[in-house]
Amino acid sequence: MKFCGLFIRVLRDSNFECDRSKKGLSNYKMDKIVIRGGNKLSGEVVISGSKNSALPILFATLLTDEPAKINNVPSLDDINTTLLFLNFIGKKTVKKKNTVEVYSSESRLYKYIAPYDLVRKMRASILIMGPLLARLKKVYVSLPGGCAIGARPIDIHLEAFEKLGAEISVESGYVRTFAKGGLKGTTINLRFPSVGATENVLLTAVLVEGKTIITNAACEPEIEDLAIVLNKMGAKVTGAGTKNIVIEGVRELHGFEHNIIPDRIEAATYIIAAAITKGEIVLKEVIPQHLKSINDKLKKSGLYIKELGNKIYVKWIKDLEPQNIKTGVYPEFPTDVQAQWMTLMCLIKGESSIKENVFENRFLHVAELRRFGADISVNGRVVNIKGVEKFSGASVIVSDLRAGAALILAGLAARGTTTVSRVYHLDRGYDMLEKKLKELGADIRRVFS
Ligand code: UD1
Repeated sequence: MKFCGLFIRVLRDSNFECDRSKKGLSNYKMDKIVIRGGNKLSGEVVISGSKNSALPILFATLLTDEPAKINNVPSLDDINTTLLFLNFIGKKTVKKKNTVEVYSSESRLYKYIAPYDLVRKMRASILIMGPLLARLKKVYVSLPGGCAIGARPIDIHLEAFEKLGAEISVESGYVRTFAKGGLKGTTINLRFPSVGATENVLLTAVLVEGKTIITNAACEPEIEDLAIVLNKMGAKVTGAGTKNIVIEGVRELHGFEHNIIPDRIEAATYIIAAAITKGEIVLKEVIPQHLKSINDKLKKSGLYIKELGNKIYVKWIKDLEPQNIKTGVYPEFPTDVQAQWMTLMCLIKGESSIKENVFENRFLHVAELRRFGADISVNGRVVNIKGVEKFSGASVIVSDLRAGAALILAGLAARGTTTVSRVYHLDRGYDMLEKKLKELGADIRRVFS
């Protein structure tokens, strides 16, 4: 625990991931997206598989030598990074359309080092720690990367590993985690219900002797999806999707086949796209329950939304009314939709506010939204918005994945032309973004660098 205190401070003070990732721009794509705003969206859109579900499930394949087949995997840069990662560690991966198959090499030898060049691209890379610690009893991981939306330390993950019996040190930018004396099931109370930490504990404890109980666990649907996969592999996990998860460790796990759940964040983005363009669309392949907090607010605002099985029908029928929101952990309003929501509120007559409770620095899109004419003021974690009648097209730069979605929405609603730069952030998390929007009637195109 002594170690963790020091480490937490190092991470919180340095905000290193943002600085490091800026230096690694050399291989980033510099494509732009150009939008001529004003078209009402209409038609049908099929929602892709969830990025945040697919990533931990791909890492779960490291828990077995047997083959795995994962369907409904979205085509995204974060998925490609994960496949590169699995290949580097010693797996063989084959991606055909939306299916990924993962095999072991003949040697079944796995590396225990996750190098900076892979980790810097994606914060979820830290999910490599759980499976490798469980199987190899040691793992060296370069300090993580990801979006520039706050310090995003990994102290909760490390505290949990320590409770399971691991020893941790930091050397030359690597977190070295060992389980020399083995790991033992225990009760782990998460200080905050971190999604990644809950997943990392699950990915370890399934192969740890004894019973592990996670209290104050994250309840996101992606955690449930991971637990379903782990149980298909032979694990004994109960309570996933609630605050208390119980894991009875088993000696070995097996291959599996699984269909990834739909991406609720992508779905929310398209619902907001319909609202902001005064359109009428049908979303297919969704789980409406996963979108309840967002749809409840939109309905209250005056948007017509009808849930029909695995479809959602959305129609703008009248001017929307402003609504205040606070982000929170599931089932509360997701932080991953805060930026898109802000764009919508900017174009609704009246005043509204947003409180960001999950990340401490997730308002990087505010400055860019102002370029369209938005009237927004920021006070710490709270944003106050005065709705304006219209946006005018602008040249803007994406700072992180969901900020990028907010700017695309702004461009769709704005009069005139919008040019969005650094769209590589969007490629991390939106499958066929321009194609889907074009099919819904948007005037949008990519300019390749
Ligand atoms: C996941 C999602 C991300 C989403 C976030 C919150 C994936 C791949 N990403 O990220 O899209 O925005 O959940 O819903 O699933 N924290 C600590 N110490 C830790 C871990 C987290 O202080 O060890 C803090 C973070 O800085 C942040 C908050 O806890 O302020 C939430 O983080 P967490 O739930 O862990 O998010 P991620 O798993 O990184």
